[in-house]
Amino acid sequence: MSDAVLGQFAPPADTEAEVDTSKKLKFGIIGTGWIAESHVLSLKQLPDVQIVAGADLIPGKAHKFFTKYGLPEVKCYPDHKAMLEAEELDAVCVCTYNRTHAECTIDALNKGINVLLEKPMCVTVDEAVEIIKAEKHSGKLLSIGFQPRMDENMKMIKKVVQSGELGQIYYIQTGGGRRRGIPNSTFIEESTAGIGALGDIGCYSLDMVLNAIDYPKPITVSGYKSNFFGTNPKYNNPADAARFDVDDFAAAFIRLEGGIIVDFRIAWAMHIDTPGDTIIMGTEGALRIPSTECWNGTVGGPMKLYKDIAGKQVEVEIPLCPEDESNGGIFYKKLRSFVDAIKNGTEAPVPSSQILYNQAILDGIVKSSELGHEIEIKIPDII
Ligand SMILES: NC(=O)c1ccc[n+]([C@@H]2O[C@H](COP(=O)([O-])OP(=O)(O)OC[C@H]3O[C@@H](n4cnc5c(N)ncnc54)[C@H](O)[C@@H]3O)[C@@H](O)[C@H]2O)c1
Repeated sequence: MSDAVLGQFAPPADTEAEVDTSKKLKFGIIGTGWIAESHVLSLKQLPDVQIVAGADLIPGKAHKFFTKYGLPEVKCYPDHKAMLEAEELDAVCVCTYNRTHAECTIDALNKGINVLLEKPMCVTVDEAVEIIKAEKHSGKLLSIGFQPRMDENMKMIKKVVQSGELGQIYYIQTGGGRRRGIPNSTFIEESTAGIGALGDIGCYSLDMVLNAIDYPKPITVSGYKSNFFGTNPKYNNPADAARFDVDDFAAAFIRLEGGIIVDFRIAWAMHIDTPGDTIIMGTEGALRIPSTECWNGTVGGPMKLYKDIAGKQVEVEIPLCPEDESNGGIFYKKLRSFVDAIKNGTEAPVPSSQILYNQAILDGIVKSSELGHEIEIKIPDII
């Protein structure tokens, strides 16, 4: 049975298409902090791309950054507006903290520039709607930086679900997190991050399962969030604890169109190793996806498929797919697929139309938690 069932999930041979280098796309980087490194290292490997400009609000930071990566010739600007005004760019990577995602992305799209926007899409669902309006009016490409989508084991989750082996999906438990793993820098303040663990890792675990079921529209949510660890100098660096004002834990019960339930929890810190594996339950089978202690964009071990075969309850282990780490692995693929989509005029690798629902759920969890009861998820019209 295992060969017959598993054979259909075998990944296709990885064939890299030949790249046309006759025209180099001119790229700008907005925000030269931590994640910008992976963008620059990946872009440097693309023969059809040239990084020409960068911007950061902190004086001197952008120039120091590009010099470190062997690109001292990159023109640096004190903010994204100055860069967009001065340069003729084909694309930008928005690598700023969450609070300025919407502004930077909308300004770039309004200038007719393609955008690769880091995750989470933004902070609120209203911002997400404004971003999508700008995308539609510009006719340009917008992709959201969910590189776990490029991971072969993550792709396997979607393949299993879409194969029909699970039947009709009715319940999903997802989330994860770390016993102790609170970040610092701009991640822990409302004024820069807007949301904490929810936006840092919660958006990933939602994407992992919602992408597998083709992102049904979220209808209602009962959410909870807290920050008992981040604000406590016993568990966090005292200076960071004093300024910590975002969530470090969140949980929610979400109803999706089609009657599917998502039971979600995410933690930067807790007194347990994991809040549970991800499980996807269907009328004909169920899938267990082991959680990782540190949510790192892949699965925590071999997945298990549970089914009844010829009257017997059977469990099949799905072997882990080897990861292609050449060129920087999934981060490289994130940039390569974005550039290919621009050049070929194809759909965004991670379209905003899907991530709108991810953002609507995060926004709903925050609102419901603050109100103390379940709410209807309202997504403004996009016109
Ligand atoms: N995809 C991933 O795996 C991954 C990993 C880490 C972080 N991220 C995301 O990347 C984003 C940035 O994270 P980080 O750790 O690099 O943060 P960071 O604070 O290190 O860097 C952000 C930089 O953006 C700059 N900035 C903000 N607004 C700007 C503007 N209008 N113009 C120019 N510069 C501006 C800030 O000055 C700062 O230097 C976050 O949204 C985070 O969620 C993604």
